[in-house]
Amino acid sequence: MTTNPEKRKNLLIGNWKMYKTVAEARKFAEELGMKSGVLLESCEYGICAPFTTLHVLRVMLPALVKMGAQNVYFEAEGAYTGEISAPMLAEIGTHFVLVGHSERRTVFAESDTWIQKKVHAVVEQKMVPVLCVGESLAERESGKTAAKVAQQVQNGLALLTAQQVAHSVIAYEPIWAIGSGKTASFQDAEEVASGIRGGLSEQYGSAIANCVRILYGGSVKPENIASFVQQSNIDGALVGGASLEASSFAQMAEAIGGESV
Ligand code: PGA
Repeated sequence: MTTNPEKRKNLLIGNWKMYKTVAEARKFAEELGMKSGVLLESCEYGICAPFTTLHVLRVMLPALVKMGAQNVYFEAEGAYTGEISAPMLAEIGTHFVLVGHSERRTVFAESDTWIQKKVHAVVEQKMVPVLCVGESLAERESGKTAAKVAQQVQNGLALLTAQQVAHSVIAYEPIWAIGSGKTASFQDAEEVASGIRGGLSEQYGSAIANCVRILYGGSVKPENIASFVQQSNIDGALVGGASLEASSFAQMAEAIGGESV
């Protein structure tokens, strides 16, 4: 079933994780600038990078590539040593904020309650949350994928109004596919994305559900990105390893551009 894909711009987001110094980020921005001919107004692009590099990326990335963060704390300010708030990110021109990445959920024990507060803090500052969801291998093998993902989506968006949901992005990233070189098949990814959109439609109505961008993530690279983005419920990709080189980011941008027309 096609759900109005023409209304949703394809979106490519790089997740640099804990890679790149300021000097390396500057080099990436310069190299991507030289390839900016592949970037299209009809698509959207972002790089979610370490906090220390955000300012330089804001200044140096090509105009069509938006700067994003990988985490945020939900309080606006206070005695929270080591944390960064949503107003702080908004002030420096942050556009996207990843929330609930599986590495945050597993390595840093982030709960659904924290994640929903973070998503809310991000939208209150008019930034775009990228809510990451996905099942473990054990959950997939025991047939629990759809239920797990539905629960993460519902909890993650629980504090938003329907309008705020419409402007949010959901990244479906099976945990077993992240950084492993294994991807979900595009059919499996589409099945989960379609389930996510169906759940949104039940809860918020189809007009809202059809606005939400759903990305696939997990070992996406230039060679396989198009097969995901061709699916009717998948509107782009969240990419770790293959987003670290400007040339590979540009190749993926080119691949999703071909799918948008
Ligand atoms: P990967 O990471 O592309 O390196 O698998 C994806 C992610 O963690 O967002």
